Amino acid sequence: MNILEEMKQRTDVVSIPEHYKQMTMEEMKKRVIEIKAKLGKQLYLPCHHYQKDEVVQFADDIGDSLKLAQLSAQNKEAKFIVFCGVHFMAETADMLTEDRQVVLLPDMRAGCSMADMADMHQTDRCWSVLQNTFGDTILPLTYVNSTAAIKAFVGRNGGATVTSSNAKRMLEWAFTQKERVLFLPDQHLGRNTAYNLDIPLDKMAVWDPINHCFEYDGNLEEAKIILWKGHCSVHQNFTAENVEEIRKTKPDMNIIVHPECPFETVELSDYAGATSFIINTIENAPSGSKWAIGTEMNLVQRIIDQHPDKEICSLNPHMCPCMTMNRIDLPHLLWSLESIERGETVNQVTVSNAITTDAVLALNRMLERA
Ligand code: 13P
Ligand code: SF4
Repeated sequence: MNILEEMKQRTDVVSIPEHYKQMTMEEMKKRVIEIKAKLGKQLYLPCHHYQKDEVVQFADDIGDSLKLAQLSAQNKEAKFIVFCGVHFMAETADMLTEDRQVVLLPDMRAGCSMADMADMHQTDRCWSVLQNTFGDTILPLTYVNSTAAIKAFVGRNGGATVTSSNAKRMLEWAFTQKERVLFLPDQHLGRNTAYNLDIPLDKMAVWDPINHCFEYDGNLEEAKIILWKGHCSVHQNFTAENVEEIRKTKPDMNIIVHPECPFETVELSDYAGATSFIINTIENAPSGSKWAIGTEMNLVQRIIDQHPDKEICSLNPHMCPCMTMNRIDLPHLLWSLESIERGETVNQVTVSNAITTDAVLALNRMLERA
């Protein structure tokens, strides 16, 4: 279920009380420090790299989706996991932790537009067409940026989840299992990864879930991968024109992009890789080197701040942060922590046992190979 559906169904999702909006940053910081000290190891605060600095400063761990999934699975100590990221990440944390551990998302509106581009109704309809077309020769893979229900569908059908940092390895594995792959929900990560594995573009079909049809000129029998027509509304905005503009105005800049960017952008860039790859590459680059980065803006700004010895800018000068990641702010974090302190937690993310059982199959097939 996507978050809008979840919010409609739930009666316990409430809005942040007004008084948090009147507090100063200093007052909020002081309270967060107090509550963190009081709860100690009972509280775990994982934080995605795309979060705002006002939240990141309190993180117990900062990571990309793979690292945060691994750390959540390992943490057996915390009773409360306040997940500073987006809804699908909190769902994953809930599925990988024990039942006694409570996962909270400080703001339930922190969704992911990409995850919302594949729902179960569309996926069931697509799968039945694929079964009729290809028989038992196709395996589903889903980017972790998908709902728990989609992960469960993939798990039930022998497939696995992938993150941007292990997509290549997982796609290689998938082709040892079946002749072809359905890749949900990010067409760009799927296309970029498949191309890296020497699958030519003319062997990649696209499935349009809105119009319920293939977008493909070739003979379907020859298609190796079916790409779900979804995308990240942030990374989609790094274009070939942005690359050309940098090449023209700053020809000595290195261009590094996330593989959620469109194929043409990735092909024209110097480097492409997951969040951790981008961070490590810039960290290890020589002083004085120049970089244009194609990824989320909170992270790009943090990289700029951490490397005053390098010239760094966003590949797209008009780029904004991910709006849903940004919904987690200091007032919402404090609200979450104070609710734990009072013993009346708000915005708990829970995935049903039936979905968890199948989704964990898909997650574990990835974690075993990560
Ligand atoms: P990674 O953390 O896997 O790089 O994913 C990027 C992203 O878009 C998270 O929402
Ligand atoms: Fe979703 Fe893109 Fe935001 Fe990541 S950056 S949470 S994929 S919309």
